[in-house]
Amino acid sequence: MILNFPLRLTGWFFAEIPRASAAGGRVLELLKTAPEITDPKQPVDIPPGPGDIRFSDVHFEYPDGSPVLDGFDLHVPGGRSVAVVGATGSGKTTVAYLLARFYDVTGGKVLLDGVDVRSVRLDDLRNEVAVVFEETFLFSASIRDNIAFGNPDASDEQVRLAARLAQAHEFIAETADGYDSMIGERGYSLSGGQRQRIALARAVLRDPRVLILDDATSSVDAVTEDEIRVALKTVMAGRTTIIIAHRPSTLLLADQVIFIEEGKVVDSGTHMDLLERIPRYGAVLASSEVV
Ligand SMILES: Nc1ncnc2c1ncn2[C@@H]1O[C@H](COP(=O)(O)OP(=O)(O)OP(=O)(O)O)[C@@H](O)[C@H]1O
Ligand SMILES: [Mg+2]
Repeated sequence: MILNFPLRLTGWFFAEIPRASAAGGRVLELLKTAPEITDPKQPVDIPPGPGDIRFSDVHFEYPDGSPVLDGFDLHVPGGRSVAVVGATGSGKTTVAYLLARFYDVTGGKVLLDGVDVRSVRLDDLRNEVAVVFEETFLFSASIRDNIAFGNPDASDEQVRLAARLAQAHEFIAETADGYDSMIGERGYSLSGGQRQRIALARAVLRDPRVLILDDATSSVDAVTEDEIRVALKTVMAGRTTIIIAHRPSTLLLADQVIFIEEGKVVDSGTHMDLLERIPRYGAVLASSEVV
């Protein structure tokens, strides 16, 4: 009787060994993968500057695909904002990837304050270029840790400041434990608008020169849209911003709108200018509204 339990435990233990070794193998494989994008051998520092962005005759294709960008030119002066509009698959998200150097251009160059993004340290670049992706990923952790993700040394003060900028402080303060409140599995206990504002706070925590917002086509209700717009307005102030957007109310926040087609900027101007000049522009906006 006394031996019964230990023996069963031993059986269970040996049964677990193959599973553990298979899982361990997969983790090691991932750890061994060499990143394709690495620091340059002789990195230069990013000079101080306002966050001036220039895409100069950029060509890009994914390793397995056809050309996505084909002679793409764009200049965003420091502190200014540009909204990017284009049909689905036209390469908007790709533009964001190239600026934050998740991929390298296959031709031409991308400059931040005059230096090629390939010539600076990745850590330095990602400190200055923050991206909010289409899908916000929140961890099952406290709100504070979610905002400070990637920057665990941030002080409570910095976290609060970022949350205030992103108009998230108020709803965080209203939760039971404030900044210590736990976000559920994948953050599903928060509304879409609240998740987006947590993501915004995370992005502005390091006070980056450049902010890129890749806005999903998802339909949000009018109140949420309004909350997000107010948040965007404050985080964009004085910061170079690229917003990928579809809603006219968001497009109006940008100083300039560009329309991408076939890997190039077809035209740029205000939202109203483009509506008048390019019938396809209105059609693209209308088609992305119904998702
Ligand atoms: N990781 C990838 N590998 C290969 N091809 C890709 C990859 N990501 C995107 N593509 C292709 O590159 C093209 C541009 O994609 P991108 O995601 O930049 O478009 P988008 O303008 O952001 O579209 P959406 O409005 O749907 O978000 C598409 O044809 C897409 O299929
Ligand atoms: Mg996209």
